[in-house]
Amino acid sequence: MSDQPPASNALLSGKTVVLGVSGSIAAYKSADLVSELRRAGADVFVVMTEAASHFITSLTLGTLSRNPVTTSMWEEEGGWEPGHIELADRADMLLVAPATANQIGNFANGCAPDVLSSIYLATKGKVMMVPAMNGKMYHHPTTQANLAKLGELGVQVIEPVEGELACGYEGSGKMASIATILKKTIDSLTPAS
Ligand SMILES: Cc1cc2nc3c(=O)[nH]c(=O)nc-3n(C[C@H](O)[C@H](O)[C@H](O)COP(=O)(O)O)c2cc1C
Repeated sequence: MSDQPPASNALLSGKTVVLGVSGSIAAYKSADLVSELRRAGADVFVVMTEAASHFITSLTLGTLSRNPVTTSMWEEEGGWEPGHIELADRADMLLVAPATANQIGNFANGCAPDVLSSIYLATKGKVMMVPAMNGKMYHHPTTQANLAKLGELGVQVIEPVEGELACGYEGSGKMASIATILKKTIDSLTPAS
């Protein structure tokens, strides 16, 4: 598959994607992912972890998504309903890209220490995770057990690819391409009838 994103086709029109961005070096790629999801017609709401904010800014992701970015449970404003629960309710999909070993562990074990993992527990939408990490972290039995458990729970996982990793190693752990993530999101949200 080409790494070139497909042309806009509005296949995700009417769909709400909550894009979780966690603290991987690959978080900078989420800017392109937001743009491509929007180009495909999705309404995109970004939720960032505190660690993700070391790699990319909410200003960038908010500007590209054209929606407010959620960075904390404790700074929500608006109506009586907690903002993160409202997001969980309206999500057709919670897509986490990049997904850290930490968030994979949170999701697999029902831990909700932050806004992203809380939305996971609260949503009835589809959930897709795109791991990105050092190959040793990815292949660690704990990470693999967590991913297997998520699979059993119905979470779709897009496997990382082989390549040069930011940590200096070669191997698997590199986040799947934006084109792959976009295609799998479209496939999942627009199943053939
Ligand atoms: C430079 C740097 C790069 C990192 N890259 C990754 C990564 O690719 N994947 C990962 O799972 N953790 C990575 N980490 C560690 C996470 O940021 C750390 O586990 C953090 O607690 C994750 O928080 P979050 O899951 O709430 O975003 C990295 C840390 C640093 C300092």
